[in-house]
Amino acid sequence: MIVTIDGPAGSGKSTAARGLSQRLGFEFLDTGAMYRCVALAVLQRDIDPADEQAVVDVSRQIRISFSESHVILDGADVTQAIRTAAVTDAASQVAQYPAVREALVYLQRQAAEGVDIVSEGRDQGTVVFPNAFCKFFLIADPEERARRRYDEMQAQDKKITLEEILQQIYQRDQRDESRTVAPLKPADDAVEINTSCLTIDEVLDQLEQTVRDRQAAS
Ligand code: DC
Repeated sequence: MIVTIDGPAGSGKSTAARGLSQRLGFEFLDTGAMYRCVALAVLQRDIDPADEQAVVDVSRQIRISFSESHVILDGADVTQAIRTAAVTDAASQVAQYPAVREALVYLQRQAAEGVDIVSEGRDQGTVVFPNAFCKFFLIADPEERARRRYDEMQAQDKKITLEEILQQIYQRDQRDESRTVAPLKPADDAVEINTSCLTIDEVLDQLEQTVRDRQAAS
């Protein structure tokens, strides 16, 4: 059984997807981490993320795996390394290339074979798993998303202003929504939840209830 959770950065979908997978006893797939791995591998090789062919070659060479909540790239634990600002920016660039997406979509479908899974990203309900059992699209107001990211950055002692984060969010949304391949948008049959005024537990309650209601009805 496949549950998809899509939405923009800072909508709370990563925390929600991880939490929902625990509540349901399902596997969890963070597809954003996979795009981040391609970006990190590109930067590590001193390749320009704008060089599409070189990026595509890298995406076909690397090995990405998950172990507990760790992300492994070619045998190295990159859980932290894929969260830097440089990787975040490069990830949104490499995610625009159709052949990169093709390679990762293949791996995502492989990961979901024969298991119950909550898969989180931008195109999970629209492109990767169009027949998913239950699809969610999480949104939050840009100001609220910026505030959440700002709090995370403060906790890590990173120096950046709220205004700078808000600008980055607008820029990334624009890039994710306007790309020609698999743009960020809700599937027609996705349940949309605005998390701006909800606690994480309230979001999880809604998600879990929706899945359990559907399971009972099917
Ligand atoms: O969710 P995230 O911030 O870790 O995602 C990193 C980048 O990858 C972001 O720019 C959106 C992109 N992405 C994508 O295009 N498709 C996915 N399924 C997941 C992430």
